[in-house]
Amino acid sequence: MARWSSAHTMLATICFVCVWVHSSGSEYVRPPPRRIVCTSHNGSEAHPQQVHISVVGKDQMRISWITDDKSVPSLVEYGTSPGNYEASSTGEHTSYHFFFYTSGKVHHVKIGPLTPNTVYYYRCGGTGEEFSFRTPPATFPIEFVIVEWTASTLTHIKKWDYDLLLLPGDLSYADNQQPLWDSFGRLVSPLARSRPWMVTEGNHEIEKVPIIGPPAFRSYNARWLMPFEESGSTSNLYYSFEVAGAHIVMLGSYADFDAKSAQYKWLKDDLAAVNRLRTPWLIVLIHVPWYNTNLAHQGEGEDTRKAMEELLYKVGVDIVFAGHVHAYERFTKVYDNEANPRAPIHITVGDGGNREGLAMLFKTPASPLSLIREASFGHGRLKLVNQTHAHWSWHRNDDDNSVVSDEVWLESLGERRASKGVDGEESSAQARDEL
Ligand SMILES: [Fe+2]
Repeated sequence: MARWSSAHTMLATICFVCVWVHSSGSEYVRPPPRRIVCTSHNGSEAHPQQVHISVVGKDQMRISWITDDKSVPSLVEYGTSPGNYEASSTGEHTSYHFFFYTSGKVHHVKIGPLTPNTVYYYRCGGTGEEFSFRTPPATFPIEFVIVEWTASTLTHIKKWDYDLLLLPGDLSYADNQQPLWDSFGRLVSPLARSRPWMVTEGNHEIEKVPIIGPPAFRSYNARWLMPFEESGSTSNLYYSFEVAGAHIVMLGSYADFDAKSAQYKWLKDDLAAVNRLRTPWLIVLIHVPWYNTNLAHQGEGEDTRKAMEELLYKVGVDIVFAGHVHAYERFTKVYDNEANPRAPIHITVGDGGNREGLAMLFKTPASPLSLIREASFGHGRLKLVNQTHAHWSWHRNDDDNSVVSDEVWLESLGERRASKGVDGEESSAQARDEL
């Protein structure tokens, strides 16, 4: 793997300091950075490292990995029993430069068609270690983990089963220090090669150095290729996918979003094509929250909210998940800053944050729209039990234990829309119950 030069180290450090200072608001002073988590590669240059998987279409999986050896083929062999590879696929590869850093060979191979809810064993590059993953179920129930990550949170996630992981950014917190992308890939690989990781970008993935530097998202786009082409998007920064009765939209906080933008037009078409009979659950993820009573990142999502919230409201989105703010906060169903029984609930699960620490300070008094808020590390779980009901729980990290600190049952707006229409009447008592 590429090595640091002293000049590179100095440049990266300057860039990192600039990003860190820029991300600190004038009112909120974030605690100083913690120790950086570093993982090393001890295998051969041909050994597949940083393996992760992501769903593509209704029955395919993309296998992504990196080798230092550029001669390794982009080949995945796979089957339903260990060591017996009944099928194989070849795919694409890329690499990139970032100042003095040169990445390894980044492989992306789509495999399938695959059978739902089935364990597959696979090998990358035609040799070496065997891995396995389980495909998501085709029908309810299905369970998602929604998280920003810390090393301890990843440990907690490992302890319980789930079907897919959704990550609304940030990912590596490399902030231009490219070897940290490799370290992050190695850290999360045991989880991310076993279950699909569907991600969208955060501010720490931008890595844009004006004038002299590479374009924004060079590393993110090369390493974390998501199914944007398969969902009609023209950018890896926003896309959608469907799994077991859920249509999931991954928006881009750092792509253009006004009414004339490609993202807005894509979102409008994507939402219009959703069939709530097939996918009664409609879920959106975006990095910067639209509703936020934490002092950190106040108002940052407001322009995006004003541009796109109406699109989400009109089609009856059930839940909007966000990251960015390193705390947990759950809002009531809300549209345009008012409680509304036909609007999505908003949940910020940005309580990972790598080395940045927690966002401890909230605005006072609390907004009545904000039902629970807590500055602790943790992760969320969303179980879609059937087409009408889901269970949301947030698990706080309490030292070595993961403790359920918030939970609520949700009812799909899709079911109501199917039975009552977009503007279906409901009793005020029912509306109050849901708020
Ligand atoms: Fe962020």
